[in-house]
Parts: sequence; C-alpha cells; structure tokens
Amino acid sequence: MATLVELASQRTALDEPTVDHLLRLTASWSLLSDLSFSDMLLMALVDDPTNHTDPNFVVLGQMRPNNRSTLINDDLVGTTQSPDAWPLVRLAFESGTRIVGQSRVESIDDVIPIWCVPVRFNGQIVAIMVRLQGPLRGPASLYEQAYLSIFERLCSMVADSTFPFREDSVAGPGLPRVGDGIILIDSKARVEFATPNATNAMHRLGIYAPAEGHTLRELGVRVRVVERSLEFSIPAMEEIDRGHDVAILFHCVPLIEHGLVTGVVTLLRDVSDLRQLNRLVLNKEAAVREVHHRVKNNLQTISSLLRLQARRSSEPETRIALGEAERRVRSIAVVHEVLSREPGEEVVFDEIVRSLVLLVEDTVLALHPVEIVVNGELGTLSTDLATPLAVALAELLTNAVEHAFTDFGGVKNDDVGVVTLNLYREDDNAVAEIRDNGRGLGADFSLEVPTSLGLSIVRDLIRAQLHGTIEMESVDYAKGGGTFVRVAVPMTARL
Ligand SMILES: Nc1ncnc2c1ncn2[C@@H]1O[C@H](COP(=O)(O)OP(=O)(O)O)[C@@H](O)[C@H]1O
Ligand SMILES: [Mg+2]
Repeated sequence: MATLVELASQRTALDEPTVDHLLRLTASWSLLSDLSFSDMLLMALVDDPTNHTDPNFVVLGQMRPNNRSTLINDDLVGTTQSPDAWPLVRLAFESGTRIVGQSRVESIDDVIPIWCVPVRFNGQIVAIMVRLQGPLRGPASLYEQAYLSIFERLCSMVADSTFPFREDSVAGPGLPRVGDGIILIDSKARVEFATPNATNAMHRLGIYAPAEGHTLRELGVRVRVVERSLEFSIPAMEEIDRGHDVAILFHCVPLIEHGLVTGVVTLLRDVSDLRQLNRLVLNKEAAVREVHHRVKNNLQTISSLLRLQARRSSEPETRIALGEAERRVRSIAVVHEVLSREPGEEVVFDEIVRSLVLLVEDTVLALHPVEIVVNGELGTLSTDLATPLAVALAELLTNAVEHAFTDFGGVKNDDVGVVTLNLYREDDNAVAEIRDNGRGLGADFSLEVPTSLGLSIVRDLIRAQLHGTIEMESVDYAKGGGTFVRVAVPMTARL
C-alpha cells in the first residue's frame, strides 16, 4: 500500500510542507474519528494536466472509529474518486467552507450524513476531510453530545489550520485515546465535564469530589500541562503519580478559536500497569547485578582461602597445586568482574583480555622478565562463550610465561621473552593465537596425551564445551622459535 507521502507526490500537486501538515493531521485524527464516532476520509485533488476544470479526488487517508463499527469495509486509500460521486466534497473545495449534508456513498450503497471539512494550510484549501456519519443509536447521551461538540471545535481548527499542531507530541502510539477518558476544561481552567472513565482515573488519584465547575488544582491535583496548554495554546503531556502504584497520563489538546484558547481537551490514561512493569524490569536488572556481584565476591573468597591454604602447606607439590587452583579461580573472577559491571547476554571480551593479561603478569612475571603483547580484538561475545574461552586463554598464557623461558639458554634476537596474543574473527569463529619466542615444546610433547591438568582443562573447554579446535606446535628456530598455539571457537554454535 502506498503511503500518504508517496500518493501525494505521485498523484497531487501538493508541496512538501503541505504534505507534512496532512501527515500530522492523519497522525492525530483518530481523536477526531473517535470523538465523532465516524469514519473519516482525507481527499485531495488529483493533479491531471488534461483536466483542470473538474479534477478527480484521490483518497490520501482513511480512519475508522475505535468506539463503533466502521461503515466502510473497503480500503479506499489510493483510490480515485470522481467529483460526481462526491458532490459535497466538490462543493467544499469550491466554497472553502464546511459542507454538511446527505449523500449517497457508493462503497456503502446508502444515503448517509456527510461532513466535508476543508483542510486549510498557508491560506489554501489543500484537502477535504470527510466525515461519514453512521446511524445514531438512539438519542446521543450527555457525553456523546460533549464529544461531538469537541469534534466540531476541532473541525473549525482544521479549517483554520490550527489543528493539527506543529508539535509532534500530539500523535503516536501509546498516547491516550478518547475511550481512555476525557475531561473538557474551559478557558478559566474549570472542568466542564468528565467522562465516566476520566472520573475513574480521578478516583485512582484519590479525588472523589464532583469535578464539574472546579479547576483541577482546586480538586487537589496540580496538572501543570493544563495551565501550560491554556496559556501557550500548545498540546502537552504529563504523568501524575499517586504513591508507587498509580500513574495517570494527562494529554492536553488546546481548543483554539480565532487565535484564542477557549478550552483544553484533556485525555486521561491510566498507565499504572505500564509503570509497574517498568519498575519490575528495573528491579530484575538490579537483582542480576547483585547476583553477579555476589558471585564475584565469593570467587574472591575462594581464591583467598586457597592462597591461605597454600601458604600453610609444607609440601611444595601441594603448595604449587593450590597456587594453580587459586590462579584458575582468579581468572574466572576476572570474567565475572567484567560481567558484573554490565550484566547482559553479551560482554566486551577485550576488557576481559586486558584483565587476564594483568593477572598473568601478576602471577608469573616475578620469575623472569616477559613481555605480553596483545594484537587485535574479538569485540563482544556471548557470556556463555566468554567465560570458558577466558579460562582457556589464561591457562595458555600462563604456560607461555611459565614454561617457555625456563631451562632455556636465551631467546632469539632479544634478551626479553615475548608472548604475543593475536585476536581476530574469521568467518564465524573467534580466533586466538598465542605465540612465544621461548624454548618450544619438547620432542615427546603431545597435546592428545592427557597428562598434566592445565592442558587437559584447555582441551576440555575448547573442544568439548565450545566445540572449537586447538592446535599446538613448536616453531622452527629459523622462524623465530618458540611455541605457537591456535584456538578457534564458533561464535554462534549452541553451547
Ligand atoms: N608455551 C610453552 N612452551 C614450552 N612448553 C610448554 C608450553 N606450554 C606448555 N608447555 C609444556 O606442556 C606441559 C603441560 O602444560 P600444562 O598442562 O599447562 O601443565 P603445567 O603447566 O602444570 O605443567 C608443560 O609442563 C610444559 O612442559
Ligand atoms: Mg599450565
């Protein structure tokens, strides 16, 4: 279906500011349709060079009322309508005045009351807003009459180009609708009438006194936007809360006559449920944050316990084992530290890498000077992937600083050991390469033989848990020597 903008540019001679005005009208005219319990059509003149005398109309917009059944089942937007079929529309275009009468409507196949309201913009009649009135269901109730009188005043504003407003806040989803409740306020800020739903909303705010004849302020609610609308003739919105549980949205539309504000239509909507939902979501987020925080603290406690225990043991082997365990717990804690800062499904892995490198430097570098260089980055990764990957990288980095440069005559080309961590994405994989310029792996080394704990952990995490691959090899002395490890894990695979 073509949009109003497309239709206007293809079929009419209307310029951009005019089309903008019509767009704003159709964005806020559900109010008009609901107030008048009527179907609405917006018709403009078709730009036809061969027919200047009696041009056809094109339907630019159509609105159905929310509070009664529609009269028109067809979608008329984009259709061409002949002036003969719509004599009242033609008359409204020619006279520039509101035409109210009866007419046979083809798509309804009946004679019905029709209002043709000229839409004026910059002094020109740019379109006709057609109201197709359905049969009345008995005599109009008091508030139905009030609706219609507001509708009439808004129609005059359409013809005076004071409705729609330039401010965008009058339209859009989520705004109060007629059915949510209306309070009509006069030029002295006094309530002229309130619909039953509006009265209910006032009750929710704790106001039980009859509203008619009093200002909202006298009744005990201060709605600044009502005063602002009266004073500056602009539409405005404000949410009034009562305690934690009640929130009512007031949406004010000023009624303007001959340049003066004669009243304000205030649409009320009870948004308490929405606000409560929002609060719930916020609470949940805080809870997640708190859990992360506690996990982090607990991990820190565990690692302190391990450290204490390591210190107390006299067996060197036990001491080393406990020290390793402590280091492993700390690398998990590092991931949690980052997670607890920004809890969510994803985490910026590079922040974790930075902390990991610091951790490895801390634990092992005291032994001998080694430089750790990080190149590239992996960006954001899912948290499911980040934790195991971080723990595996911590093991591999620790191995490099721990084993590559011990019992070793000296590094090639340099007297400082260098460990390089290259990070990049390749297809759907997160890839990490760890390279050192140390002594390389022993001749009998095999990644597949499950002996030592460190590499067993790495194998398990990368292959079994992350469905990734890991390669480990010595580099020829001619190519710089040392060890090269490459880890690749799919980023989208289900874990
Ligand atoms: N970058 C490396 N350079 C030299 N040797 C390494 C390197 N990484 C691992 N190794 C060898 O592999 C062995 C197994 O490592 P690991 O499973 O982590 O156990 P651990 O670190 O406790 O010795 C190490 O003892 C070491 O001999
Ligand atoms: Mg190790």
